[in-house]
Amino acid sequence: MDNKELFLKHQGQTTPYPLCIEVSKAKGMYIKDKSGKSYLDLVAGISACTLGHCHPRVVKAVQKQAAEYMHVMVYGEFIQSPQLELAKKLALLLPDSLNSTYFLNSGVEAIEASMKLAKRSTGRSEIISCKNSYHGSTQGALSIMGTETYKQKFRPLLPDCNKIIYNDLDSLENITSKTAAVIIEPVQGATGFITPKNGFLKAVRDRCSKVGTLLIFDEIQTCYGRTGNLFGFETYNVVPDVLCMAKGMGGGMPIGAFTTSTELMHILSDNPKLGHISTFGGHPTSCVAALATLNELCETNLIEQVSAKEKLFRDVLKHSKIKEVRGVGLMLAIELADADTCQKLVTRGIEKGIITFFFLFTDTAVRLSPPLTISEDEIREAGRIICEILNE
Ligand SMILES: Cc1ncc(COP(=O)(O)O)c(C=O)c1O
Repeated sequence: MDNKELFLKHQGQTTPYPLCIEVSKAKGMYIKDKSGKSYLDLVAGISACTLGHCHPRVVKAVQKQAAEYMHVMVYGEFIQSPQLELAKKLALLLPDSLNSTYFLNSGVEAIEASMKLAKRSTGRSEIISCKNSYHGSTQGALSIMGTETYKQKFRPLLPDCNKIIYNDLDSLENITSKTAAVIIEPVQGATGFITPKNGFLKAVRDRCSKVGTLLIFDEIQTCYGRTGNLFGFETYNVVPDVLCMAKGMGGGMPIGAFTTSTELMHILSDNPKLGHISTFGGHPTSCVAALATLNELCETNLIEQVSAKEKLFRDVLKHSKIKEVRGVGLMLAIELADADTCQKLVTRGIEKGIITFFFLFTDTAVRLSPPLTISEDEIREAGRIICEILNE
């Protein structure tokens, strides 16, 4: 059996038709396969590799930490400088009301924990999310997912999960004094990078403040620079009560976190104590990777360059078959006529050496979420290949 057959036989897959690129190396903007072919990565492991692959600063931090100590104790008991330094840096960069961070391993864990925090702190049970939202695949996150397709086969799910409609101000009436939390992505990811309009996020903030509901921003995909600011809430000027992050924060290492006020955070540690626990949460090697990524972003102008790079993408993606380039910063969706054209763009792209990818909830758009380190020449090259494929 070759490796593809062994992969299909011995490893779990997520779809019946995985891409099956056999990776040998990844460096900067490129992934190399076993045959030596290079692919320009326009997806960054689904918005995760903020600084490209194997950024030297991240690699060095991880190697150094791995040689000093790795896992020593379940999360939250010992003082570990990789976690503490990262928490301090985040507190320095965030508003005063967001000064305490709980580290986990993934985005969905941050969502699950923040749902629990909202229930504990308000004594309410209802969680409201948006139609067409995606917050992860575990059963709590699935309960608040904004589409039935992925939920119906897994019921029963959590009760008291209701919806508002993204960008629909009228639907905000659904947020009431029974609502523990509203969880919302500043930019809706899985639907193809839908951005907030007409002061929607500010109106959600106002409604939550009025009825005593926690506002939780799911910045798992927007975080660390993608919208042109470190976090999306800065781009839209609305401060949440709880900020969930993951993906791009780790610079390629697995980590998730949620940040809130010290007062709210302390609620989780008592009555019952150990109200939320994780063995590997905030693994030292992941925290140093996240800190290295954050420091690199703070010390360079990569985030400032995001809007110019967005503009260049929009300039080079002018083609009669492209209906719209949607999104913000370096989270862009190429809207095409139909699913077949999207399929062709992704598969022909791989043949021609670019990696683009699909969205979970829409089959008429193709995702571009490259590392923030993408150069202008690489954007032009990507645009040229995409237009060439659409010409075929
Ligand atoms: C907006 C959003 N929330 C939550 C998640 C779940 O994160 P993870 O896959 O790290 O659990 C994702 C992952 O794609 C996401 O895009």
